[in-house]
Amino acid sequence: MLVAWQRTHGRHALPWQQLDTGRDAYPVWVAEIMLQQTRVAAVIPFYRRFLERFPDVAALAVASQDEVMACWSGLGYYSRARNLHAAARRIVSEFGGVFPDDPDALESLPGVGRSTAAAVAVFAFGRRAAILDGNVKRVLARVFAIEGIPSSSATTRRLWTLAVELLPAHDLERYTQGLMDLGATVCTPRNPACTSCPFELDCHAHRQDRVAELPHRAPRKPLPERRVAMLLITRGNQVLLERRPPTGIWGGLWSLPESESFEDPEEFRAQVERFGEVHSLESETGFTHGFTHFVLHADVVHARIREPLHAKRCAASVDSLRWVDSAEALELGLPAPVRTLMRVRLAA
Ligand code: ADE
Repeated sequence: MLVAWQRTHGRHALPWQQLDTGRDAYPVWVAEIMLQQTRVAAVIPFYRRFLERFPDVAALAVASQDEVMACWSGLGYYSRARNLHAAARRIVSEFGGVFPDDPDALESLPGVGRSTAAAVAVFAFGRRAAILDGNVKRVLARVFAIEGIPSSSATTRRLWTLAVELLPAHDLERYTQGLMDLGATVCTPRNPACTSCPFELDCHAHRQDRVAELPHRAPRKPLPERRVAMLLITRGNQVLLERRPPTGIWGGLWSLPESESFEDPEEFRAQVERFGEVHSLESETGFTHGFTHFVLHADVVHARIREPLHAKRCAASVDSLRWVDSAEALELGLPAPVRTLMRVRLAA
């Protein structure tokens, strides 16, 4: 039923469905990683650029982290890019540059969970494996009226069992794509189009008039808020950038140096003076950026300085600090709100 529905009502023109790669898993894998936490429409332009820049796993493996991050910049969830890069290197070093076709071996790669491993195994190799991403969890929870919060371990286990039991004997690719398509276009979180659904008559949630209630949602807690001050330190047409630590938000991206002490202007001045004589210090409009687990408020101070950076005066962090021409800075892997801010402020 789902297979027939996919044939007539599913999506067939997505870039990763147009591949004629002779079962090259690389472009399939890149798509599945990008689609893990990002919608199809947002992924498409990044996907095209990424494949142009890194056309195969060998090209990705030899690239520098900066090149990979720059290509991912704006897509968010940057650990995906770091893992993708690390996985490409492992595929080259451990698998001779050839993707394994086995879901368990795929799952051993950084950033590849059980569902992504299954999607790659199905789409690239025609293997028989079950996916269970957020969309599929919602479809199954509704069709079978599964109680419990889908992210809880007991419910997740139940859903996995169901996902495996439901696998058809044939047409795995179309079936898997059908599940994804149904979750994305019909069985949506809000206002699902039940009258267009192939399971309308069978869906337990629909028959019990509980579609809005299922799957159960975890009680919402207000997100914690964090405040930082970002230092936009410029010297002529150069800006001082700092590479963020490899883990945590925006890990591995270049960004503006940050300061904890945004309340005391003198403390601020002292921090900026490490980089040279302060010509002016002005507060700018900052930004608020929502992450999955918290909200970040960034205050921004623009310091114009006269003197060049003296390497000895900030020896401890000099490796991660870099003066960059403004135009060049915008080409680096920057967090999207920082890029926007710099684009506005450095043009001003
Ligand atoms: N979401 C995750 N994988 C996908 C795919 N291959 N097509 C459409 N949406 C997806």
